Amino acid sequence: MRPRWTFAPLVAMAQATAANIPPPLNITALSSRNGYSVLECWQLASIPADYMSAVNYAVGNTTLATWSRIEPRTHVGEAWAPHVQLTAVLNGLVRITAPAPPGNVPNASLCARNSLAGAGRPETKVAYAMPGTVQSSVLIAADLKSASTVAGHFTEFPSDEPTILVQVPFLDNKAPAHIVLHDGPCL
Ligand SMILES: *[C@@H]1O[C@H](CO)[C@@H](O)[C@H](O)[C@H]1NC(C)=O
Ligand SMILES: *[C@@H]1O[C@H](CO)[C@@H](O)[C@H](O)[C@H]1NC(C)=O
Ligand SMILES: *[C@@H]1O[C@H](CO)[C@@H](O)[C@H](O)[C@H]1NC(C)=O
Repeated sequence: MRPRWTFAPLVAMAQATAANIPPPLNITALSSRNGYSVLECWQLASIPADYMSAVNYAVGNTTLATWSRIEPRTHVGEAWAPHVQLTAVLNGLVRITAPAPPGNVPNASLCARNSLAGAGRPETKVAYAMPGTVQSSVLIAADLKSASTVAGHFTEFPSDEPTILVQVPFLDNKAPAHIVLHDGPCL
């Protein structure tokens, strides 16, 4: 016969596990909406797993990672995600404005210029990325030029030190499963 008390510890353990599940990962992302690059706060669907003495979130299948060094006070101008990719900031500072302000699109077609001033333009938001927390140091760039046809984003590296990035493209430009928490960067 099974002793009655074996059930109690099992229930207690299940409750403790549910209470200890770490929160989902929120990552600032550059996405495309109606032809404009926009900043959004994404909550990844990834369920964290405990191993290697760490809480681990699968982020997605990726391809060749690149380590990049950007000179101090570099102003890139209008830009688009070269691939759908994860970017981690190891040093320095990145300032991102999305959609790119109209003045930064000198070569846009007449049609694009008209829609830049148009009612469909999303509100311009600014995000800063720098070493520190997940929220501050990791970005997902998913605003491909093929989707942000009216305006991309605008990137600056204003710090006095070089900005060091690790850029990890997702396989087949497939962004990780997510929901959008709100417009603008994660806070
Ligand atoms: C992500 O955002 C949700 C909703 O605001 C919050 O409950 C959760 O704690 C956040 N996750 C982290 C890791 O901060
Ligand atoms: C990653 O690739 C594996 C193997 O092909 C696949 O089973 C898995 O679903 C992929 N994960 C994502 C998030 O696409
Ligand atoms: C700028 O616009 C001109 C005229 O439409 C075009 O020929 C040229 O390729 C464009 N340059 C760039 C860098 O897009």
